[in-house]
Amino acid sequence: LAKIEINLDEIPEGKNVTFKWRGKPLFVRHRTAEEVDKEAAVDVGSLRDPQHDTDRVKNPEWLIILGVCTHLGCVPMANAGDYGGYYCPCHGSHYDASGRIRAGPAPLNLEVPYYEFVEDNLLVVG
Ligand code: FES
Repeated sequence: LAKIEINLDEIPEGKNVTFKWRGKPLFVRHRTAEEVDKEAAVDVGSLRDPQHDTDRVKNPEWLIILGVCTHLGCVPMANAGDYGGYYCPCHGSHYDASGRIRAGPAPLNLEVPYYEFVEDNLLVVG
């Protein structure tokens, strides 16, 4: 119930696709090797909401997050902002390509929902 199945073959590398799940936007991002390396190398101690990238993904190629800004709930724009991830235009929050808050008023990282890879290219969220 209230699960969503997503065929990952349809999401090319470098793209962030938005789905609707439980009434909220769900972002599925196929990260590039460059993004994976960059996010893994971020100094966790420098973060407002300290989380290592490896604690936010099950497979580094895929970032699965809710597209709900943790400030006041606007939908951030993908591939925008100063950290190469997401930018929330409502009040200017910048998130990185791990969905972690890096600048602006939002207090927390974008939420990672429960999900599983049931087959190589099949993601189930919920
Ligand atoms: Fe995103 Fe305010 S709702 S910065």
